[in-house]
Amino acid sequence: MRLHQCSVEQDSPLPCLADTSLRRLMISSLAAKYKDLCPVVIDTGMGHTRSGLAGDERPRSVVPSQGKDGSIVTHGVVTDWDRLEELWYHIFYHDLAVCPEELAVLATDAPLSPIINREKVAELLFERFGVPAMLVMPRSVLVAYSYGCTTGVVLGSGAGTSYAVAVQDGYVLPHASFRLDLAGNDLTVYLGQMLAAHRVQLPAETLQHLKETRCCCHPPGTHSKPMGPLLQDEYSLCAEALFTPEAVGLSGPGLLEMAACSLHLSGAQSGNPPLLLAGGTTLLCGFAQRVAQGLGSGHPAAAPSRHVAAWLGGSIAASLDAFQDSWLPRDIYIESGPSAVHQHCF
Ligand SMILES: Nc1ncnc2c1ncn2[C@@H]1O[C@H](COP(=O)(O)OP(=O)(O)OP(=O)(O)O)[C@@H](O)[C@H]1O
Ligand SMILES: [Mg+2]
Repeated sequence: MRLHQCSVEQDSPLPCLADTSLRRLMISSLAAKYKDLCPVVIDTGMGHTRSGLAGDERPRSVVPSQGKDGSIVTHGVVTDWDRLEELWYHIFYHDLAVCPEELAVLATDAPLSPIINREKVAELLFERFGVPAMLVMPRSVLVAYSYGCTTGVVLGSGAGTSYAVAVQDGYVLPHASFRLDLAGNDLTVYLGQMLAAHRVQLPAETLQHLKETRCCCHPPGTHSKPMGPLLQDEYSLCAEALFTPEAVGLSGPGLLEMAACSLHLSGAQSGNPPLLLAGGTTLLCGFAQRVAQGLGSGHPAAAPSRHVAAWLGGSIAASLDAFQDSWLPRDIYIESGPSAVHQHCF
């Protein structure tokens, strides 16, 4: 790997250049160097952080985002910046064995997260890790890229967040975007409560495994076979909470209504733009069929590796020539401060 051999001139005279066209030229020649340096892509989710080098087909590192002190991310929003810094330090220097001072870094942003999130990511990457360039991109846009699309409605459900987000020409349509703070972790807890009602107590990992292997998105009322202490139907009821959040005490629309609204507001007609699935919880058995049946539409696009779709889209984007002008370079950050991130990260 030649990552350690290259270096970008972080102290280039760009801030002093009065001539903007010359300045742009210099920025874009720096941008070309970022690609040569092979950017790093990091997707920090509530359950796991996936990271690796742009152009790779899968992340090189997948580590839990939570420890005994709880999660670093709560429903898509970073809630412990010090621990995020520790986690990323470990990922850069240990898992990926790279020097962040020599690499452009693409980080992902959860749907409808506070915009201050992006400023804080910029601050962390530039000021604590000294990266030469960075970018924060919405996960939904990256998911669309992973499917080879720039337009689509992404229906995502991971560990802590579910969402339906319309993406058009590579940009999020905020008025057609919805988030639900109910996802895989909540289903695991819900399953634990169902079992507790039968006086069965299981450790969290066993519950998660049971959920992943037994909960299916069948319409309840059709499978009354006993499976251990629960009926098959009860496992289906657990998965069904994604579509009826009131089952776990949350008000508001479930995934089907969110997807329908997003499709409607993005002007979808007969499968265009496509509905794209992402996130580990959409791997629940029968999920794609349940969505198609509930929407009265064809099957959504469901890539087998959709649990890593956001990371993969980042890997694809960051390795494209056309993308290299998008980075926020360090010089601009130093000149304009953290708010510069909003001119580069939409
Ligand atoms: N085969 C499976 N069937 C059902 N659920 C699964 C399966 N594989 C993973 N999951 C669930 O998916 C969730 C993790 O999804 P994912 O890795 O997309 O989340 P994340 O990226 O860590 O979090 P975020 O919600 O912040 O994006 C966990 O709740 C896990 O139990
Ligand atoms: Mg995720």
